[in-house]
Amino acid sequence: QLNAVIFDLDGVITDTAEYHFIAWKQLAEQLGITFDRAFNEQLKGVSRMESLERILALGGQTDRYTMAEKEALAHQKNEHYKQLIARMTPDDLLPGMLDLLRELKRQNIKIGLASASKNAFTVIERLGIREYFDTIVDAAKVQNSKPHPEIFLTAAEQLRVDPSTCIGVEDAQAGVAAIKAANMFAIGVGDKEALKEADYIVETTADLTYDAIVRAFYRE
Ligand code: BG6
Ligand code: MG
Repeated sequence: QLNAVIFDLDGVITDTAEYHFIAWKQLAEQLGITFDRAFNEQLKGVSRMESLERILALGGQTDRYTMAEKEALAHQKNEHYKQLIARMTPDDLLPGMLDLLRELKRQNIKIGLASASKNAFTVIERLGIREYFDTIVDAAKVQNSKPHPEIFLTAAEQLRVDPSTCIGVEDAQAGVAAIKAANMFAIGVGDKEALKEADYIVETTADLTYDAIVRAFYRE
């Protein structure tokens, strides 16, 4: 039985995954490190500091900066990111997402948010969709980052539903792994190859209709 759908935010509900990419890419270039979209797949769903560590490792610069310098670099990226999200409006919801949220509400299925971002509340507010969520679990509320299942398990607990009755929706490798580790049904949005661990994959959110996800869930 399907009781809840728990969504990732960046790259699923809105295209902030692109803004994270732009902001990291600019910082990396400043440090003389080039990275492409394939590498960026490994940053999706990963916390701010861990993302910076991965970028520095890519450039062979792991030991070049002190902790204070790393914090300053992460801060600089976040300031750029905050500029990018400052102008977001409800028009920035990805195709089909508002319809899906509405239909889930209509069908009395609980809705959760499981986001690794400390900016999650700001983005949800800017999109004007706060009212749809029965719970929001963000980076501040968990110890372990994705692919650890904690963030999805915490959301299920707060919704008072068994994880096996939940669908998790993710655009990140680390996120799909977290959903599977939480014993939930994993829906991946995006690249088939990158998200191959998911139980069901759609290319874009336009394919994420209520009927499609319910059918996929019960087919298992
Ligand atoms: C995740 C994004 O949702 O949040 C990552 O997929 C990002 O790209 C992470 O690094 C942390 O976000 P923030 O806003 O706290 O830096
Ligand atoms: Mg994401």
